[in-house]
Amino acid sequence: MKRLFSGVKPTGDLHLGNYLGAIRQWINLQDDYEPIFCIVDYHSITSQYNPKKLPDFVFKCACNYLAAGLDPEKSLITVQSKIPEHTELTWILNCITPVSWLERVPTFKEKAAKQSGNVNMGLLDYPALMTADIILYKAEAVPVGEDQLPHIELAREIVRKFNGVFGQLFPEPKGIIGKVGRIKGLDGADKMGKSLNNCIFLYETKDQIWTKLSKAVTDPARIRKSDPGDPEVCNIYALHKLLSDTETQYEVANGCRTASIGCVDCKRRLNDSLDSEIAPIREKYLELLTKKEYVGSILSEGSRKAAEIAAGTMDQVRDLIGFSYEFLE
Ligand code: AMP
Ligand code: TRP
Repeated sequence: MKRLFSGVKPTGDLHLGNYLGAIRQWINLQDDYEPIFCIVDYHSITSQYNPKKLPDFVFKCACNYLAAGLDPEKSLITVQSKIPEHTELTWILNCITPVSWLERVPTFKEKAAKQSGNVNMGLLDYPALMTADIILYKAEAVPVGEDQLPHIELAREIVRKFNGVFGQLFPEPKGIIGKVGRIKGLDGADKMGKSLNNCIFLYETKDQIWTKLSKAVTDPARIRKSDPGDPEVCNIYALHKLLSDTETQYEVANGCRTASIGCVDCKRRLNDSLDSEIAPIREKYLELLTKKEYVGSILSEGSRKAAEIAAGTMDQVRDLIGFSYEFLE
């Protein structure tokens, strides 16, 4: 079976964008691949963060993974910093990766603009670390949200360069994106993101979500209930398409176009659909929060097994790059 790798940064609670854009498709892929799902803490420290909060974010990320349906019998769930080979391999990749390749990555330019007082080396090197994450396990499939595709493209280039310089070792990874694309935030403008204050978090209750949904932006041209709207420009309808059954989708789209249903009703129906999908996740999540030892043992076991694979790959890498000193013990 082919190996699959993906990860999320432990920078805060997981939101609907993470779930619909990435994690929901991970669940279904678990049967067709040998998956490794990592909590990528080395990536999370490239932006300002609070070291005191990090352990809690890592733990909550693991609880979210499990609550959403990752099955430790099928998937290895790992913590990146528990497997030092991730950073070791990154250094080796650094030495074959032209700086110009990293400088042209769109997320680097965006992040550098956003955190102009903290354009650190790690931020520039972020995609090299991501490449190491993937190829350390010779993973071929990388399910991510569409914003990550430039990173996967760069990973493929780095792999080609490595294989060309040192000899064929790594397969070229491929990104897997569902039909979801980018989930917009409740402001209807930016993508839903932890730092943007436009999120629905997976732990929120139906009432809490309603407070947010009731203020969410819809078709801006639809000012009164009697104005017909265009579902295709409405972010609420975009979410219906991902969360509601086809009958509900048809009814709200039709109701919007003919002005027979108002935005408030349409949002209520979305909240019902959303709740049936995420209420079980929330309940499981809350239960797991009380099971620190159990969750910790899954992470330790996953990281231990992944470290064995990583060690095997690094032996091969060291041989290929000339780090095989027989005169040393
Ligand atoms: P992050 O929270 O940036 O570590 O992202 C973790 C995963 O969630 C990645 O695969 C992202 O592409 C995906 N993701 C995050 N935000 C969104 C969004 N608004 N829409 C779609 N996918 C997203
Ligand atoms: N950069 C990814 C994000 O922000 C997280 C990530 C790190 C990742 N390493 C990875 C995703 C390797 C897939 C494969 O979402």
